[in-house]
Amino acid sequence: MESTRSKIINLLSQNPDIYLSGQEISNLLEISRSAIWKHMKELEKDGYRIEAVRNKGYRILESPNKVSENTVQWGLHTEWLGKTIIHKETVTSTQLIAHQLASDHADHGTVVIADEQTTGKGRLSREWHSAKDKGIWMSIILRPSILPYLAPQLTLLTATVLADVLKKESLLDPKIKWPNDIILADKKVSGILTEMQAEQDQINYIVIGIGINVNHEQNDLPIDVQSKATSIKIETGKTWDITKLIQNIFVTFEKAYSDYMSQGFSIVKNKWESYGYRLGEKTTIKTFQDVQEATIVGIAEDGALLAKYNDGLIKKVYSGEIDWFQNH
Ligand code: BTN
Repeated sequence: MESTRSKIINLLSQNPDIYLSGQEISNLLEISRSAIWKHMKELEKDGYRIEAVRNKGYRILESPNKVSENTVQWGLHTEWLGKTIIHKETVTSTQLIAHQLASDHADHGTVVIADEQTTGKGRLSREWHSAKDKGIWMSIILRPSILPYLAPQLTLLTATVLADVLKKESLLDPKIKWPNDIILADKKVSGILTEMQAEQDQINYIVIGIGINVNHEQNDLPIDVQSKATSIKIETGKTWDITKLIQNIFVTFEKAYSDYMSQGFSIVKNKWESYGYRLGEKTTIKTFQDVQEATIVGIAEDGALLAKYNDGLIKKVYSGEIDWFQNH
């Protein structure tokens, strides 16, 4: 359920250049003018700068430089993604909260965002380090009408969205390492964890967990990953507005998702391959069965990795890891 506060924020942010009178807001939201006034005072306490002009109404001049449900929704132009945001300062893992909400019928497009995670989850049961206010730690709930075996396509779609946003915003050259790592300058800057609740032929919900190292300095990263991980700040030398990055991801994600739903996977596949990390190079592929040398040639229509093995055969890999770092 959208709160009255976020409805006020939405109304004002959709009309940044005009004043909305107390009466108009009162009619639209069916609350009293004195309740509106109280909400405005609360928003000011949160760091919003609100202009109130007699006989004209209210206008937001500036939103606070802090991630919250309201700041992310301020000026956000999406139709369904991020319409409900649950923002918390500290959580164990946004994935856990998202699973609870999704089991409790949360809407498609609901997002859980945290400033800090104490036990962030990575792929393959690894821990994901999520330092306070340094990065984007969020989980998106989706209810796609696709068959469960196609869910990995959404991980690949998410990776292309993150690469697009990083490329546009930072002007750097992001790459995607299959299946879920975003790489800047040969180091991991972001990871995606897709989890789902499904029956044989129907997905109940998917939770897409996104972790991005944004404003870390080198020593904000755990010692053991410093040689393999980076942040956008380390690569660009400047501090990034986390709220704006989140908004950008939402807008780009919504568009990519709707293109995928209407036109299928081929656009994602082409885009993914254009970002593919070290495509055409020899690598080591570890699956739960074995470790073998192979060359990554692309991804298949169903989202599997296509790898050419030493016997010349091109095979699909559905789960595993590719590794160039082991000899470093
Ligand atoms: C990986 O590369 O191993 C995936 C990392 C995914 C991390 C994100 S941070 C937000 C969400 N909550 C979690 O606990 N994990 C994901």
